[in-house]
Amino acid sequence: MSEHFSSQSPKTELKIAIVGDIHEQWDATGDRQALELLEVDCVLFVGDFGNEAIEIVENAAALPFPKAAIFGNHDAWYTASDWGRKKSPYDHALEDRVQVQFDLLGNAHVGYGCLDLPSLNISVIGSRPFSWGGGKWKNKKFLSERFGVNNFDESLKLMMRRVESAQCDNVIFLGHNGPTGLGTAPEDMCGRDWDPLGGDFGDPDFEQAITATKELGKNISFVTFGHMHYTLRHRKDRLRTRIKHQDQILYVNAAQVPRLKNYPNGDRHHAFTVVTLNDGQPQKSELVWVNPIQNTQECQTLWDCHQLEFASS
Ligand SMILES: [Fe+2]
Ligand SMILES: [Fe+2]
Repeated sequence: MSEHFSSQSPKTELKIAIVGDIHEQWDATGDRQALELLEVDCVLFVGDFGNEAIEIVENAAALPFPKAAIFGNHDAWYTASDWGRKKSPYDHALEDRVQVQFDLLGNAHVGYGCLDLPSLNISVIGSRPFSWGGGKWKNKKFLSERFGVNNFDESLKLMMRRVESAQCDNVIFLGHNGPTGLGTAPEDMCGRDWDPLGGDFGDPDFEQAITATKELGKNISFVTFGHMHYTLRHRKDRLRTRIKHQDQILYVNAAQVPRLKNYPNGDRHHAFTVVTLNDGQPQKSELVWVNPIQNTQECQTLWDCHQLEFASS
């Protein structure tokens, strides 16, 4: 699915905002104003809007920007597992709120999909939606019924079908959880921070899709995801590693949770992770707190292509 291809040459300097796990922290007016202040070319949502938070998904879908989203484990909180269905506040015989969310986003939902944005020369490819992370195949019935996918191998094959259909020169991978291969320490990008011994909690099929895409010779502008929140459970004196440039690919974890900061004077700061691209190559990534009331931005550089080393916290 794509916007219309036109004869105009695509824009080469791009500013892309990534909205980390929202978990109900969305302010319809303020977030729209903040994105307008940032003057972004595209907005990416890494999922976990809330626990099947239809209103927030509806609001994101209505934003007047090119956008792509992938659903997280919380976006099927009351649907994907027997455990969740037992806690459901609604009757599944009467409502399918996961389907409502799909319908609201339409082709902007890229989980197991691809959205071509020819005016930006970017194809956004989604990994496995609703991921909980880790090396165990979870939510078997749900993934089989919704996507016809029954194991990691079938999951990889479906992602690669989308990669092969991508029309633009540059690929952005959008996942809910990140890929394996980014470290095994608890504070690594997808590290198990609830276990002092750590372990890699990335998605193995996602890592394989990235490797196979590189082997096809496609340019991967960057890989972004959320799910593994910045605050760590095993220690409070540092944050999770948020960004990593590894084997010529930029990996960006955008899970700033909570993403709204409220101040006594009524001001509210909204967090976005911003990546700038030039001709499909990443130039810089920043965590930006935008105050749409005062029209101010506080930027923290997470990575810059001109500097080799960056602090991870
Ligand atoms: Fe989350
Ligand atoms: Fe999540």
